[in-house]
Amino acid sequence: MLSNNGNTIDYRNKLILAPMVRIGTLPIRLLSIDYGADLVYSEEIIDHKLLRCNRRVNDVLKTVDFIDRSDGTIVFRTCAKERSKVILQLGTSDPDRALKAAKLLENDVAGVDVNMGCPKEFSIKGGMGAALLSNPDKACSILKNLVRNLAIPVTCKIRVLDTIEETVELSKKLSECGIAALAVHGRMRHERPQHSNRNDFIKKVSEVVPVPLIANGGSKEIENYSDFEKFKIATGCSSVMVARAAEWNCSIFRPEGKLPLTDVIKAYLHYAIDYDNAPANCKYCIQNMLQDLQETEEGKALLKAQTLEQISAVWGLDNYYRLKEAEYRAKGILDRWEVKP
Ligand code: FNR
Repeated sequence: MLSNNGNTIDYRNKLILAPMVRIGTLPIRLLSIDYGADLVYSEEIIDHKLLRCNRRVNDVLKTVDFIDRSDGTIVFRTCAKERSKVILQLGTSDPDRALKAAKLLENDVAGVDVNMGCPKEFSIKGGMGAALLSNPDKACSILKNLVRNLAIPVTCKIRVLDTIEETVELSKKLSECGIAALAVHGRMRHERPQHSNRNDFIKKVSEVVPVPLIANGGSKEIENYSDFEKFKIATGCSSVMVARAAEWNCSIFRPEGKLPLTDVIKAYLHYAIDYDNAPANCKYCIQNMLQDLQETEEGKALLKAQTLEQISAVWGLDNYYRLKEAEYRAKGILDRWEVKP
């Protein structure tokens, strides 16, 4: 069996923030950690995109940024607080390109995950995401190349296949590549979030696969912290990865119970301001938290807001924003604040 040298993560008994495009940026990851998440996945980042990035240490924000050379956007921002808990999720279809991209971040993240579940056309056409489910040899060569050459743990996230037997066979094959854990989303490639999750498939895989298994797909069943335990029992897994339940209210990770949404949004905004998160991303994340509350006073004000200052003002944090802005300006880093949202 292949193995990573040195740095390890025990993937058992973990509550995990799932990878979510546009949602899993730094503020949500930090907040999820505060509330009790043991590990936090980044949004999927395509290897080509990472390979266009320069690594830059931001001394004022105390972050490490990966910045796209072609347009200056921050593709991935991380910081010391999440260093031992953040897993970078890669979108890839090529072992060498995956490794080159992962090498760029190897010293800044705790682990690397390969997305083998995304059913979107963009991924499938590029041979990435769920396309790898029907190309196990390619999937395995990507994993083996990462495992052999990275000093941090490597994992992958799959969807279930058409039958339990096929899912078990694929999972076994992947687990023989030296991965530290396997995350299984209990929906098939063509299934959508409203379909029920195939917990029985995950349970069967958990009985036969030797690596720690992370159960995913339970957001409709996980309304409260105690539901994590029920989902663990239903899937036979000791670790649970949750996406939508955390997207809506990431205090789902609190053993003491969920907090009111207003408290969560305010705490989110503190991090967004502290780490200079892009206003469009803040707006998107908060809109997803508000769900059917878009017609409330706050929802309508958020819709109109364009800048981080305006968004902060909706929740009474505009003074905090201005304080931080002044601090950052004094330290001379705020070229981004001049950019129109
Ligand atoms: C996702 N999902 C996802 N999966 C993945 O492997 N990489 C990604 O970048 C994303 N992006 C993403 C964005 C958003 C907004 C959602 C809601 C979902 C899928 C996600 O990680 C998870 O597998 C499913 O949502 C099922 O888990 P839940 O939602 O039932 O906990």
